[in-house]
Amino acid sequence: MPELTHRHTFALPSHCKQLESFTSVASLLAAYRTDMPVYILGGGSNSIFIDDFEGLVLVNDIKGIDVQHDEEGVRLTVGGGENWHDLVTYTVEQGWHGLENLALIPGSVGAAPIQNIGAYGLEVGERIEKVDVVVLDTGEQFSLSQQACEFGYRDSVFKRPEHNKWIVTHVHFFLPHNAVPITRYAELDALINPTAKDIFNTVIAVRQRKLPDPKLLGNAGSFFKNPVISKQHYTELCGRYGTVPGFEVDAANVKVPAAWLIDNAGFKGQCRDGVCSYQHQPLVLVNQSATSGLAVVAFAREIIDTVYTRFGVQLEPEVRLVGKTGLVTL
Ligand code: EPU
Repeated sequence: MPELTHRHTFALPSHCKQLESFTSVASLLAAYRTDMPVYILGGGSNSIFIDDFEGLVLVNDIKGIDVQHDEEGVRLTVGGGENWHDLVTYTVEQGWHGLENLALIPGSVGAAPIQNIGAYGLEVGERIEKVDVVVLDTGEQFSLSQQACEFGYRDSVFKRPEHNKWIVTHVHFFLPHNAVPITRYAELDALINPTAKDIFNTVIAVRQRKLPDPKLLGNAGSFFKNPVISKQHYTELCGRYGTVPGFEVDAANVKVPAAWLIDNAGFKGQCRDGVCSYQHQPLVLVNQSATSGLAVVAFAREIIDTVYTRFGVQLEPEVRLVGKTGLVTL
C-alpha cells in the first residue's frame, strides 16, 4: 500500500490503496476511478490522514506559470500543482506587489482558493480573477469568476459537499500595479513605505517565530477557525475575563482568536498521546510523536468540549480530517 505519511505535513503514519499524480486534465480523468473513494491532494498541509484511506489519492501536479502584462497590472495563470510559497517568492523577486502577505504558507496553488488562505491582512480570494475547474465524473471544464467562487473567511464554493467532484486545475491571479501594501497587522505596521520584499521578509520572520516548521515538527497550521460570536456574547466574555481580544466582523458580530480561547482553557503547550497544542501558538496542533489519528481526534474533541463549557463558544476545525473512506467530522 502506498504511504501517505510524508504526503501530508501532519505526518501521521498512514497509507492508501492507490496513489497517482496527475499533470494535466487528461491524466486526471484517466486516473479517476468510480469503484473506490477518491481524495484529491495538493501539498497536504490542510489534510490530516487519521486512518489508512481505503481508496485512491490523486495528487495535483499540474505545473506552469504563464505571465501576461497589461496597463493595469500583471495577470498570472498558474497550475494547481505549483508550490504556493515558490509562487509568492517568484512574484516578489519580480518586484510585483500583491501576494507578499501570504509568504511561507505551506501548500499548493490549487488548494489556495479552496480554503481561501489568508494571513496578515490579506485573503487570496482578493487576488484571484478566476479559477479553472474540471468535474471529475463528467469531465466538464469551466472557469469560475472571483464572485462565483463565493470567497469567505477560510471558505469558498469549493468546500460545498455538492461540489466535491470539482477539481481546481489552474488559478488566475491579478496583481494590479496600484496595489497598496497591506500593513494593518501589528508586526507590519512599523514598516515605512515597504516594498513587496520588505513585507515578504517580515511575514516570513513573524511566521518563523510563531509557527512550527512542518519539516521539523508535523502540523497542519491552524487546526481550528477563529470563531465568530455575537457582540452580546463578546461583551459577556469581557465582563467575566477582562479584556478579550476580538475583531469586529460587522455591526452584530465579533471574531475572537481561537488561540486565546485555547490558551485560556489551559491547553497551550499541553500534550495528549503525542499530540500537542504548540507552545508559541496554541491554535496549531503538532505531531510530537503520535502514532494514530485517534489521538488527534480525542485531543481536538477535548479542546472543543472544554472551550465550549468554559466560554460557550463552538470551535470548528479548519483542517480536513480524512478517515478510511473520506472526510470525517469531529
Ligand atoms: N493568542 C493568545 N495566546 C497565544 C497566541 C495568541 O491568546 O499563545 C491570541 C492573541 O490575542 C493574539 C491572537 O490570539 O493577538 C491572534 O494570534 P495570531 O496573530 O497569531 O493569529 P491567529 O488569529 O491565531 C490567524 C490565522 C493564521 C494566520 C494569522 C496571521 C486562522 C485560523 N489563523 O491566526 O493562519 O497566519 O492569523 O494573519 O485564521 C492557518 O490558517 O493555518 C494560519 C496559520
